[in-house]
Amino acid sequence: MRNTYTPSSFLSDDKNFLCILDQSKLPQEEYVLSIQTSDALIDAIKKLKVRGAPAIGVASALGIAVIAKHKIGRDAAELAAEIDEISQARPTAVNLSKACERMQEVLHAHDTNTIDGSLIDKLFFEAQSIYDEEYEQSRRIAEAGLPLIKPGSKILTHCNAGRLATVDYGTALAPLYLAHERGIDFEVFADETRPLLQGARLTAYELTKAGIKTTVLGDSMSSLAIETHGIDLIIVGADRIAANGDSANKIGTNNLAIVAKHYQVPFYVAAPRSTFDLSLKTGAEIPIEMRDPQELSDMWYKQTMIPNEAEIFNPAFDVTSADLISGFITDFGLITSDFEANFKAKVSLES
Ligand code: MRU
Repeated sequence: MRNTYTPSSFLSDDKNFLCILDQSKLPQEEYVLSIQTSDALIDAIKKLKVRGAPAIGVASALGIAVIAKHKIGRDAAELAAEIDEISQARPTAVNLSKACERMQEVLHAHDTNTIDGSLIDKLFFEAQSIYDEEYEQSRRIAEAGLPLIKPGSKILTHCNAGRLATVDYGTALAPLYLAHERGIDFEVFADETRPLLQGARLTAYELTKAGIKTTVLGDSMSSLAIETHGIDLIIVGADRIAANGDSANKIGTNNLAIVAKHYQVPFYVAAPRSTFDLSLKTGAEIPIEMRDPQELSDMWYKQTMIPNEAEIFNPAFDVTSADLISGFITDFGLITSDFEANFKAKVSLES
């Protein structure tokens, strides 16, 4: 199954470019962007050309190795400063800062202060390890979540936590891809995910491309869809999970979790260990990214929908409290109780 689709990010054959499938152009156009500099990488992350917690970690790691390759003979401190800037491009997904820290550690452990061929090899090796780990973790998430996908299931998801948001199967969508491959019949309902429409543009794009029946609904329609369409399972991804299980994910996830509790629909969060941040006790400590008001005021940057006089509130994420979450679908198994104790036992803080 490897490489039967365009990955969210990958290296050019000569390793001179980081290639990114530009998600801001999907589903109309499958355009691959070539990146060589930290400015271009930061711009791609900020503008959601590459997005989704694991995907921005992987793209940054690969990108840092490419950027270093174009700096042979230069002072390593210059690269270290650029890695710090990349790390701060988006604050909520911990995968980004973790990947940048790992690249920074390789740089600091190198024996000279000048960027040379041996450092470049080590940086590419580390970036490939991060890529491979995410690949393996997404496969294990798929296995862990598979028992939840019963024949005839109707599954609702929010935002995009599939192939585009990570490496290979994704997180929330991982069990669905595996179930589909195993011939299990089910259908998916994708919240459109205002304001940037990751559900409508991206989840519907990748699921229908895989031949999975998908219905898009507006974010405010989930309670009615549960009542009228018999949705029996909700699976979402995460950008950062605190030690007690509080989970940050795309804005609107918490609303959905509250609705799920009302209707007693099981609500699962799927995430690899790279998304856990056990240094934070609760979700109150998770930094929430605020984004450009224009994303909300203008319908996909085309038509202004809000009078100029109105204030705009446009947070990119919210935090769902652990008590609304039925369980976590992770690469270390399905966790349905004692979240904190299970996370501590199974998530390595270094990963
Ligand atoms: O702003 P985005 O599109 O990067 O937000 C992405 C999400 O909220 C995803 O659900 C999350 O990163 C999990 S991706 C496997």
